[in-house]
This record gives sequence, structure tokens and C-alpha cells, in this order.
Amino acid sequence: MVQELTNQSFSVPKSILDASREELIDKMQIDGKLPNDLQGHVFIVAPVGTIDSEGLPPKDGNTYLNGDGMIYRLDFNQKGEVTWKTQIVKPQDYFFDKRTQNQKLLKFRNFGIIRFSLVFGFRNELNTAFLPMKFPGDLNERLLITYDAGRPYEIDTETLEVVTPVGERKEWQAATKLPYRFPPILSTAHPVFDTYTNQMFTVNYGRSLGNLLGRKEANDYIHLLEEHQQQLPQKYAQLHTNFLKQLISKADVITYGDFVHLLCWDGAGSLQRWKLVNPDGSPVSIKQSMHQMGITEDYIVLMDTSFITGIEQLINNPLPTSLDDHLEEAIRKLLKRKPSPDSTLYIVSRHDLQEGQDSVVVKKITIPREACHFLVDYRNPDNKITLHISHICAWNVAEWIRRYDTSPYDQKPLPQHLHGMQQCELDISVMGRYVIDLSNQEPTIESKLITHDTCTWGAGLFTYLDRLPSSGTTPEKLDNIYWVSLGLWKDLVTDFICDLYRDYPYRQKPLDEVLELARNSAKPSCLYRLHTSSNEAMEIPDYFAFPKEHIAVSPQFVPRSEGEESSTNGYIVCVVSTPKRNEVWIFDAENLQQGPLCKLYHPNLNFGFSLHTTWLKNISSRQDSYKAPQIRNHRSLIDNTLSFMETDLSSITKDEKDEIEREINDIDVE
Ligand SMILES: [Fe+2]
Repeated sequence: MVQELTNQSFSVPKSILDASREELIDKMQIDGKLPNDLQGHVFIVAPVGTIDSEGLPPKDGNTYLNGDGMIYRLDFNQKGEVTWKTQIVKPQDYFFDKRTQNQKLLKFRNFGIIRFSLVFGFRNELNTAFLPMKFPGDLNERLLITYDAGRPYEIDTETLEVVTPVGERKEWQAATKLPYRFPPILSTAHPVFDTYTNQMFTVNYGRSLGNLLGRKEANDYIHLLEEHQQQLPQKYAQLHTNFLKQLISKADVITYGDFVHLLCWDGAGSLQRWKLVNPDGSPVSIKQSMHQMGITEDYIVLMDTSFITGIEQLINNPLPTSLDDHLEEAIRKLLKRKPSPDSTLYIVSRHDLQEGQDSVVVKKITIPREACHFLVDYRNPDNKITLHISHICAWNVAEWIRRYDTSPYDQKPLPQHLHGMQQCELDISVMGRYVIDLSNQEPTIESKLITHDTCTWGAGLFTYLDRLPSSGTTPEKLDNIYWVSLGLWKDLVTDFICDLYRDYPYRQKPLDEVLELARNSAKPSCLYRLHTSSNEAMEIPDYFAFPKEHIAVSPQFVPRSEGEESSTNGYIVCVVSTPKRNEVWIFDAENLQQGPLCKLYHPNLNFGFSLHTTWLKNISSRQDSYKAPQIRNHRSLIDNTLSFMETDLSSITKDEKDEIEREINDIDVE
């Protein structure tokens, strides 16, 4: 029985712990003065649980990050009024998820960050970020919604319906040879659009599973599964255990090995593709993920980001809801991988991206401290590129609080309502600016790093003036970036992450001090402006510290409709979880410290943990004709999958195959 949430038992606001899947359109209630020159449309996306979860919190204690994307659009163009509209993102795999919910063997289940069906493959949850694009001839901007493990999709900015994936299925290489209807496709949640050359760039990568587990680990893992296999009465769990055993022992055969392909799109035609290789000709090997990329006039910057996702999630979280806590914990311990404490950058010269060229050599640069998000200046004078990086030191954003996690304060399990929530950072984040000189064979790096004792605790999400209102082009150089930080929360610290980061090599604050600060709720969630100018200066001249029991996420810069064009002439719209409800707060970008100018709320607006945002001046029903052909003949693909499982993978018997086919006959697969 789920107990009633009261904020007395938590330090985190209870409103961040739940979310609704209801699709609505209504007017927001306004507390304070809504600025008259606030304009356009703010888009926010949040994972809101899965078809079987009835929103958040997830019933199975799985991570909040696994869920269908819900788009929230706030419309500011009517004076004195704000309308909001919400819509769940529904690509084709969403409907398969829905149709198979009552089938025991076919249904999609949560495996950590990913959602997977033994027979159909991987969901593309499209719950992470947006990319506005305007190609020549487009009247209004077009909008992509993205996810790290799937193709980006274009949405209709008026109706919020998905229209088409970018690129047809065969234009993307899956991470495995398993012939799934929905294969795992690894990409980036932050593709880039060059507003000067009208090109969209993204990545498509995969990695071998062979090096995921050493031989001893693989044996131990299989042993653990076998030991418990007899205790698992469900047919599904038996089949899945067999599948995992075969997956591990045949990993080299069923993956394509390491590859990273850079893709370029013109908004209308097919995708151009270049294979990225190291100077010695070997393929670039991504160890974690490619959550973010950046673009300058002459270079594309890729990063192996501190966030582990992909098919490994099947192995890390092998039998959702079937395992006892003891076994699940044993598996997490066995497979425990620390995110790399360093960031590896791969830099591609855009001059090398010639048509007909198959591969391109990258420059690899490693810098200390991990990161998920960075920005780059568009101009790169004298082949010097400038990166603005938020180092999320000692923060594993792919980890969440499990049922069996204990608190370092009393060694007791954390309260049930926190299961699935993100864990906290265990050191102060570092804001870095790097100037990388690529004019010589060996790149040189100048860096400037700062921390702020109040602001930079868990520096996760950012916003800035990303397109100049007059021209629609990217500013040539960034001077002000707005970040929100999580703050430190005693409820989001576990013994597990304390162990993981006890020996963190770049530690600035001793772990005991961090734990003490968290215990006393001493570091609030903050919205701050990082000023980074052409001279050496780098500072935080303005910030707002949110009150106790408030967490801010999803900031978005909105330029004022009038006045000079500058990176501070605008508003910051962000989602704030308060002890009572989710609200949208609006700040003057030039004066954060005075607090919000107004707050928006609605009794049915329930965000949970929202992620990235974007802003469009205009929305319209989609005019463009591009549509990637969708696969229609599902049945023959499903037959392929089953024979692969029976013959190549030997994970099912003939009888089991027949049983699966009986379930398939019960649903409409076309
Ligand atoms: Fe992101």
C-alpha cells in the first residue's frame, strides 16, 4: 500500500516525485505580474512513466528517466494569458508497447534506463531534448525531439504529434545484429544545427559488448542467474535468463563492434554518413555515451559523456520485478562500473567531411573531470575552439535510488517514494572554459575553472540566447550561460554512491564534509548566470538560490520582444518543484537575484523530473513534406526475430517459439 506523501518525511519537494500522463490544454493561473514582452512558445519535455505505470512515481521502483516523453508547450503570445498544452510523444513503438501490455512474453518491461521487449526490441522514449531547425524555404522553424537511444523524430509544433523519424530505418546502424522490429539505435540527445550552413549533424554509434564483462565476471554473472533461475516461476523470466546467457556468451558475434558514424542531414534528403577513425585507422570507441555534441564554423566536437546507457542496461537490470533484492544488489555490485572521471573529446574537421569520403580521422583529447553537457562558441578564430563545460564531479546521473539502497546517515533503507529518483552529486561541480588550439599537430589547451560555493552543486541543465532574434543565427560567441543546479539533498545520498565516489580523483570537498552539508540542507538548488567573456574573466555575477525544499529544473531563455539584442535581454522560464506543486517561474535574465517576476501553476500540471527545453517564436502546422518511410511488413520481421532466437542465438526452443507465436496471434501487429 502506497502511503500518503507528506513533506515532513523528505527534504526533497514531494512534487518532483510524481507526474501525470494526462494530455491537456488549458490556461495557467498567474501569480505576480506576467511581463508584456514575454513572447513565443516554451517547450519542455519530461519522462512521465510508462504505459503500465500510471505516471510517476514508477510502481516498480525503476528510474524516473525511463518513461515516455511528455511535451509541455507554454504559449505566451496572448497578452495577460498563458496557455499550456501537453502531449505524450508517440512513435510507432509506443503503440506496440500499448498493444502488448497484456501479453506475458511479448510485453515491454523496464530495464533500468531502457524499456525492452524480448520479441520486439527497444522503445525509443523520446523524452530528453529538442532541436529547432530552419532550412532554406522553411517559413517557421521545425522541431526535433530526441533521446540517447533512438532516432530523433520531428514533431508538428502546433499539434505536438510526431510526424516522422529523421532517416529511415536502414539509414541507421543498430548496435546489435539481433533482427528486432525496434533495434537498439544509439545516437545523441543533443544533435546540432548549423544556422549558417543549414545542416543538421548527429551521431550513430555502437560498441562491442565483448569487453563489457571480463571472463570471470561473465561466469559469475551467469552463475548468479542460473542459481536463481529455478526460483523464477514465470515463463518470461526463464526465457529472459536464457536470452541473457546467450547474449553474453555470443556478444562478439551479435554486435558490430565499436563504431561511430557522423551523420549530416539537409532536412529533405537522405543522411550523409562518415565513419570516424583514429589516426591509426582503428574505429573510434565510445565507452559511455554521446549525450552532447557541439558545432563550430570549422569543427564538430563529440564527447564520450558521463552517462552510461544502451544494451548494457539489459544485463545490469536483468529481470525487472522478478528478482529478490538480494540478487539484484549482488548483480549491481558485480557489474559496478564507475563513470570515467575524465572527459574524452573527439574533434572532427568539417573540411574533411567531403561527399564520397567514407571515413574521417578525429583528434582525440582527454581533459580531467567528467561532463554530460557542454557548449561551444561558433567562431573558431585561428583554429582555436572555445568550450564551456559543466563538470558534474562525482555525480552519476545514470544511477537511481533502488529499493535496497541504504542511507549513509542511518544505514536504513531510503523511503519508498524516493525509489527511482536520481542520486545526488558527491562533490561540487566545476564550470570550465577551455580554449583548444588546433593549429598544430598536437593541440594545446588553455583552461579556466571556477566553482561557486552556493551555486555549483550539481550543475545539470543550461540555457542561453542560442539564436539571435533578428537573424535567427547562432551568436558567434557565448558570453552568458544560465545554469540550474540541483543542490545537495540528504534523501538522495546512498551508501552505494558514497562507495562509488569515495576515491574520486578530483575531489575538492572531502566526502564527510559533503555528507554533512547534505544533512543540513546547506546547498540549495540555484539558477545562476555564468559570465564568460573574451578576456580571462569568468564569474557568476548573478544568481537566485531557491528556498528550502524547492528544486529548479528545465531553464529556458526567452528573448524580449523589444529592446536590444543581448544575451541578458530576456527572461528565464524554469520549472520549480515546491513542497506543494510544480510551478513555472519567470525571472528577468538581467536580474535573477530579485527573484521571480511571476509564477504559473495549474491544479493538473504535474511535471515530475523535467529535462530539456527550447523556445520557438512561432509555431504552425507542419508544412514540410519530408517523411521517412516506415516499416510496414511487421510480421515477416517478427518471424525473422523468432528464427534468430531459435537458431542463431539458441535462446528459445521450438515449443517456446510456438508459445510466443500464440501471443503474437492475439494482437494486431500491423
Ligand atoms: Fe542533456
